[in-house]
Amino acid sequence: MVELKNDRFLRALLKEPVDRTPVWLMRQAGRYLPEYRATRSQAGDFMALCQNPELACEVTLQPLERYPLDAAILFSDILTIPDAMGLGLYFEQGEGPKFRKPLQTAADVEALPDIKIESDLSYVLDAVKTIRNALNGRVPLIGFSGSPWTLATYMVEGGSTKDFRHIKAMLYAQPEVMHLLLDKLAKAVTDYLNAQILAGAQAVQIFDTWGGVLSDAAYDEFSLRYMNKIVAGLIKEHNGRQVPSIVFTKNGGLWLERIAKSGANCVGLDWTINIGQARQRIGDHVALQGNMDPSVLYANPERIKQEVASILADFGSGSGHVFNLGHGIHQYVEPDRVNAFVDAVHELSEKYHAI
Ligand code: CP3
Repeated sequence: MVELKNDRFLRALLKEPVDRTPVWLMRQAGRYLPEYRATRSQAGDFMALCQNPELACEVTLQPLERYPLDAAILFSDILTIPDAMGLGLYFEQGEGPKFRKPLQTAADVEALPDIKIESDLSYVLDAVKTIRNALNGRVPLIGFSGSPWTLATYMVEGGSTKDFRHIKAMLYAQPEVMHLLLDKLAKAVTDYLNAQILAGAQAVQIFDTWGGVLSDAAYDEFSLRYMNKIVAGLIKEHNGRQVPSIVFTKNGGLWLERIAKSGANCVGLDWTINIGQARQRIGDHVALQGNMDPSVLYANPERIKQEVASILADFGSGSGHVFNLGHGIHQYVEPDRVNAFVDAVHELSEKYHAI
């Protein structure tokens, strides 16, 4: 087995001492990089890129060639699961993801097949193995999935939505159908993340992008409950090392205390909350990831550095912070700005880890 040369990221998730605060960016491989756009056009389209393990590996490594990041993230998408369930995922230019066969009725939900990750999503596991091999211990590899609620929003709406009309109608008018769907998804997500761990993912993140559109009570019942179930079913140790987990609910700032009890090692924060206050509310039993507004990367290096400094100061001393953006990097960011961001985190964080 290859020794990890940089394990800051894993150590911070486990709240073990580190020399500097580790940093990675959500969506670090993506359209803001010209080399990504070149590989994607070589692949044909986005799904073809995800389904080709060599090219998925190539784009996973692209941001690591440019920046001294402390983690790599599998290049794939959260919508691979509904695609494998037969919904027919496709991407319309400039319109985001769409499904040919969205779930419209209770019968559609009941008929949803159980998937076998090893055969139905073998291309994802092949990508994980290829990337782990290519990384050769440079930094840890993150696996990921969408939360059941977030996946369900796309499956029921048939794509992205502004008003969550169909899914909320299902939630309030047919809660038993909603629960059946979420239960099926929670099982698939648990199997999916465990298969990624066995294939070589060294940490996993659950993206609950749309948990924040729910009411206080509905968040517990329809999103958090299923993430708790998933976390409870995750493989906790592989090849002699703990496999930490991160739960990220965008707009979940009001519910941090509850999210911190999910059993995950780390809570992901968007930029709407002060990370120091989050730390005070949650206590020190879980790590925090975040939380710079991705739009700060539109500013000049001095302004970026200032923002990094204030987030580091807000978190304060000690381990348990993984620096990240509060959501994915925007496609219009100039790649050079990311250098300023990553360098600032490493430079300015040293003093918070002095022993
Ligand atoms: O972080 C990484 O670098 C890993 C790759 C990754 C992608 N999608 C690649 C991608 C990850 C972790 C995701 C997760 C994902 N996908 C989420 C949760 C995180 C979030 O951003 O909220 C969601 C909701 C999706 C669904 C999805 N996939 C959408 C809404 C889109 C369209 C985005 C847009 O701006 O058009 C995608 C496509 C997608 N997934 C792209 C990338 C790089 C862009 C596709 C392209 O090349 O045109």
